[in-house]
Amino acid sequence: MIRIESVTKRYPDGTVAVDRLSLEIPDRSITVLVGPSGCGKTTTLRMINRMVEPSEGTILLDGEDIQRRPVTTLRRSMGYVIQNAGLFQHRTIIDNIATVPRLLGWGKRKARARAAELMERVGLDTALAQRYPYQLSGGQQQRVGVARALAADPPVLLMDEPFSAVDPVVRKGLQDELLRIQDELGKTIVFVTHDIDEAIKLGTMVAVMREGGHLAQYAPPAELLSSPADAFVEDFLGADRGIRRLSFFPSAGLPLTSGPVIPADATAERIAAADAPWLLVTDAEGKPLGWGERGDLTAGDIRPDRLVPHGRPFVPGTDSLRAALDCAVLSPAGWAVAVDDAGRVTGVVAQATIGEAIRSAHAAGHADVAEVAS
Ligand SMILES: Nc1ncnc2c1ncn2[C@@H]1O[C@H](COP(=O)(O)OP(=O)(O)O)[C@@H](O)[C@H]1O
Ligand SMILES: [Mg+2]
Repeated sequence: MIRIESVTKRYPDGTVAVDRLSLEIPDRSITVLVGPSGCGKTTTLRMINRMVEPSEGTILLDGEDIQRRPVTTLRRSMGYVIQNAGLFQHRTIIDNIATVPRLLGWGKRKARARAAELMERVGLDTALAQRYPYQLSGGQQQRVGVARALAADPPVLLMDEPFSAVDPVVRKGLQDELLRIQDELGKTIVFVTHDIDEAIKLGTMVAVMREGGHLAQYAPPAELLSSPADAFVEDFLGADRGIRRLSFFPSAGLPLTSGPVIPADATAERIAAADAPWLLVTDAEGKPLGWGERGDLTAGDIRPDRLVPHGRPFVPGTDSLRAALDCAVLSPAGWAVAVDDAGRVTGVVAQATIGEAIRSAHAAGHADVAEVAS
């Protein structure tokens, strides 16, 4: 565990970048430092690997003051990833990733084999191995940066706004990849960002910092959203805090109904028997085609291209109440479409029912919606 104990950093010009910061960073999880520009995030991160020395206070790694560890040994145990990846421009991708193992004295063949393995791990095609950084997209370069930081298998990974310079779609891919890698490797990751959504998505614990290097709140993301410590945190979390909080409520227990679900080849009797104004039409495999008003649907002549789009369905058990609510809000019928992993419809659920589940989830605090919605 990394423990930051009442650490202050005063730069020579008098700037107090970090002010009596105390944090316990748990092992094998992602801890995010988030806050506006200039609030001391980078300074904090760099004090952990001693690129910056604290003016006061102590940082402990597994109970030992990091001041007592030789800087080289300390840094070897901590991979470091920065914005724009910071790759060596004159080295190939494979040699960039193999840098630290080579420094540690590994043979060329072994280091390159390890680098190739890491390329796959971070989702890079090994065909890119002999390219140079400028021949890669920004997102690919960031993946190389992550692979390079992981090369010597350090227990700790320090990441300073690693995904801030790429576009939102690529960024989402990198975030998902990091979560997947973390599931496999279980590193102790300290991740800096100014993006609160990124913090909430990635962090097991989130430290919200404010100007002057003050810690405003340190809590799991769901707790930040439900109980911001003060007006600064609330403001920083931004609008639709309530909606975003629904990401932490499971959709597993929502009661589904298949009453309004009909196959495209439904008989007239079946259509007549479906007791709802809007019907969800499915294809031969049971996948959703779209919504149709019951009065407009004629047996034997249901035209998929005339149906109203069903929006993005949700997968109960995998997706959150937020996904279910979004689906219901987008649907003209006000019903969300639930599908299994193969995309086949398992039922639909009304907006009002989702609303009840949300109220129950609130009432039950963190209790599982699966219990309270049924
Ligand atoms: N080397 C330095 N000398 C003087 N002031 C610095 C130095 N590095 C950072 N600062 C100042 O310290 C504060 C915190 O900076 P930094 O840790 O980089 O914040 P963040 O990463 O949250 O944007 C800022 O006011 C910044 O201008
Ligand atoms: Mg910074």
